[in-house]
Amino acid sequence: MDLRPIKQSFSVEYNYQLHFAKGLFKLDNLLFLNIIKDYKDYEAVKLLFVVDKGVVGHHPELLSKISEYCSVNKNYLAHTQSLVLDGGEQSKNSAEYVDIVLKGINENAICRHSFVVAIGGGAIIDMVGYAAAIAHRGVKLIRIPTTVLSQNDSAVGVKNSINFFKKKNFLGTFAPPFAIINDSDFLKTLEQRDWISGIAEAIKVALIKDKHFFTYISDNALALRNREHEPMQYVIYKCAEMHMHHISQGGDPFESGSSRPLDFGHWAAHKLEYMTNYQLRHGEAVAKGIALDVTYAHQVGLISESDLDYILSVMTTIGFDLMLPLNSDVEINNLLAGIEEFREHLGGELTITLISDIGTKHDVHEIDLGLMTQAIEKLNHHFALKQ
Ligand SMILES: NC(=O)c1ccc[n+]([C@@H]2O[C@H](COP(=O)([O-])OP(=O)(O)OC[C@H]3O[C@@H](n4cnc5c(N)ncnc54)[C@H](O)[C@@H]3O)[C@@H](O)[C@H]2O)c1
Ligand SMILES: [Zn+2]
Repeated sequence: MDLRPIKQSFSVEYNYQLHFAKGLFKLDNLLFLNIIKDYKDYEAVKLLFVVDKGVVGHHPELLSKISEYCSVNKNYLAHTQSLVLDGGEQSKNSAEYVDIVLKGINENAICRHSFVVAIGGGAIIDMVGYAAAIAHRGVKLIRIPTTVLSQNDSAVGVKNSINFFKKKNFLGTFAPPFAIINDSDFLKTLEQRDWISGIAEAIKVALIKDKHFFTYISDNALALRNREHEPMQYVIYKCAEMHMHHISQGGDPFESGSSRPLDFGHWAAHKLEYMTNYQLRHGEAVAKGIALDVTYAHQVGLISESDLDYILSVMTTIGFDLMLPLNSDVEINNLLAGIEEFREHLGGELTITLISDIGTKHDVHEIDLGLMTQAIEKLNHHFALKQ
């Protein structure tokens, strides 16, 4: 018998939309209803809501609004339960919360033709997305992100995860959502640190891809810090659009290669989040990671001192604290170990994205640890002098 290999090849197309809204669950706002009706309008679709406790704390009317919205539209929306879970990184730091969501999916008989709707910051959305992706090998997910970072970056992509073995995003899936809805009303109640921290991801994409966008951020640095709605809405829209475009047009949506430009500044960020026991928000850590990598880019001759100073000053004007919380050689070495951990997480050859100009990325495959140590010291010295 001829046992030649049987060839197999197919591709799956993904389509999803990021919608923008205000007052999403007001009865006269038909967006959510229409998204579900577009999927199925001949019988009610089961919905399990999972909501960030931090959001409920600031929007106490949210749960009753969801119930009322679903009950008024009960021919289309079958609301099963609204689970309210702790938000923030703790929701990603153990499998306990995943179990709660899986239990909710099981007990409410959420099937592959039903929806899980995650409302909250990037952490809870990552965790719920992971649970939804593994239940029945994937139930449908609608993400309603409520922080700047989740609206402009984390919720608009294809990744879901929790932290495991004390490593960031060790368990996870590539599973695109059914839809994402950014409601700008949620942003009003963010703490100042959460308002600012998401801007780090916009600075990231601007620095590696779009000089004009960086100039916009620079021109609006104070307005952003002062919580002006218009520039923030633009920064979120542009940043989300650039992330989505990179995923669909960058040639590697599920990251099988070793290069990951959207992780500019992230090798240090992920390690700093862990080293500070997640006291730093992801965006705060990304800002420090970017500051370090642009300082290193200057050390190796890729960018000028004036460009370095310009980038750091835009970031500090927005309100970022760019000092690295490293107080000893042991801690510096601990941070540097993050380079190899980053390589391992991506797999393959070490690829660290730097910049050779504002708006131009430059990948390197080797990091000079001596020069990186100097960059750490130079950055901290720069900000120590300003204190
Ligand atoms: N999947 C991805 O591609 C991706 C990309 C980037 C970041 N991330 C992840 O996103 C997470 C960070 O998300 P984040 O910055 O949104 O922080 P977060 O989810 O940790 O939320 C921060 C705090 O804000 C509270 N909060 C949320 N919305 C609020 C609102 N509207 N008003 C008041 N408080 C509110 C939360 O309860 C929490 O206490 C990290 O775990 C990071 O790894 C994932
Ligand atoms: Zn990030």
